Amino acid sequence: MALEKLLTYNTQVVAVVDQQWGDTGKGKVVDMFAEWADVVARGTGGSNAGHTLVFDDKEIILHLLNVGAVYDKITILGNGMVINLPALVEEIGGLAEYGINCDKLRISRDAHVVMPYHIGRDQANNQSLKNGGIGSTGRGIGPCYADKIARKGIMIRDLYDRDILHKKIRKGMFLDAATENGLKYVLEGTQLLVRSPSQITREVDVMMAHLEPLGERIKPYVTDTVKELHAHLREGKKILLEGAQGLLLSIEFGTYPYVTSSDPSLNGTAAGVGLSARDVDLALGVVKFPFMTRVGGGPFPTELAGKAGEEYCQEENRAKENELSRYNIKFTKEGDKIKYDFRDQKILELVNSEDELTQAIGIRLAAGEFGASTGRPRRIGWTDAMAARYAQMINGRDVKLILTKADCLAGIEEFKLCCGYAHPSFGMWIEFSRDSNFLRKVEPEYTKFHGYGDLSEVQKFKDLPGSLQSAINLFERYAQGKVVAVSNGPKKEQVIFRR
Ligand code: IMP
Repeated sequence: MALEKLLTYNTQVVAVVDQQWGDTGKGKVVDMFAEWADVVARGTGGSNAGHTLVFDDKEIILHLLNVGAVYDKITILGNGMVINLPALVEEIGGLAEYGINCDKLRISRDAHVVMPYHIGRDQANNQSLKNGGIGSTGRGIGPCYADKIARKGIMIRDLYDRDILHKKIRKGMFLDAATENGLKYVLEGTQLLVRSPSQITREVDVMMAHLEPLGERIKPYVTDTVKELHAHLREGKKILLEGAQGLLLSIEFGTYPYVTSSDPSLNGTAAGVGLSARDVDLALGVVKFPFMTRVGGGPFPTELAGKAGEEYCQEENRAKENELSRYNIKFTKEGDKIKYDFRDQKILELVNSEDELTQAIGIRLAAGEFGASTGRPRRIGWTDAMAARYAQMINGRDVKLILTKADCLAGIEEFKLCCGYAHPSFGMWIEFSRDSNFLRKVEPEYTKFHGYGDLSEVQKFKDLPGSLQSAINLFERYAQGKVVAVSNGPKKEQVIFRR
């Protein structure tokens, strides 16, 4: 029996969660198990996520839909999600161009709608990263969840009741506005606008007119997904849960306030579709190894070049094209897509630079670490076993780990693994902490390893380069989790399962 089949043997519910700050490549892992599943369900976040699929040699980026749609599986967008309707309609249309009809899509009637004013507020709130801002993706996710918590959010089901929708839009747009002499004062972006009662009615009507056709377009897919998912569970259907973002970005468990607004933990991922984490038979935790990344602001103990690395990524003009041009690396442009050879010798020279800032640029280019949703350069650091241990504690001791992206560093001369922290006031053996101020002060303790070459032809774990195997063994000890597979290339077949 193939090893991946052994993993799912006798399991009905598999969850794939990210044990770091997102972007670990869980899309590929979900893709690996999508054929096994009857149902693929996602329950957190919104179009802040981005997942690149290669279909017929063309790239499709999904932000809301999950890969289940591509495999014609029952595809659930769960109650915990926040849905940008134009983005969803565009994704459905985009897949239709490839002959994928999304007939089995199910959208929770209880999910919340990201309204245009949420996006406006998010972009206005998006304080400059240089001033300590979190650097959100600007997709309206935070303000939408804020309205949900404040009990003035608009749910998918509200789209089909004109009176409720009208009232809720009015509440959402104007509840917090100051009133004087019958006029409302609303903050739009950074501008304070005055609205008369008739203007308010007109604006609500415009918003209604914007939503109505979108609501009609998705109506065939809208249902009580919790009830449906439990029916599938009772019938013995195989269910794959797709986590979004990563544990360290969780509103509950992440490095607050540098977090997203949902809970991408295993518990949050299950709750987001109406399941209990106890329903999950196999939880797979994805870990980028031996480097990891973070986008936006917030502490990152193992970041290459530390503060300078963070500041570099915050500066404007750090797009992929600029980094490539700066080092005279050949690339081609098709529309807004930039193509280059990840294995270009010049990139490898950067990867092996003694200067950490340059090395981070090299690793970013070698592994294509630019945001799928925003194009922002991802911050680069060594894999942090302390952070992984914390993720293992929160997501559960049983989480089995899949390591990704090691192949991108083929040709690296030396790499490091963080196995502890020292703190200037508290000394050694400090554990990972949610406290961002505390975490900013810790100094990582590293174990160094010799580099390795090409991994693409390796078939068995025991044939991986010795230094990589030693690093993985040490990582398992510190992270207190079992590594069951190592991905060795971008394709879903490129994975080495461990006996
Ligand atoms: P928001 O989710 O757009 O509100 O952004 C909050 C923080 O989470 C920012 O630091 C984002 O960069 C980060 N974030 C949100 N979604 C992702 C993701 O899919 N991958 C990595 N980081 C993300």
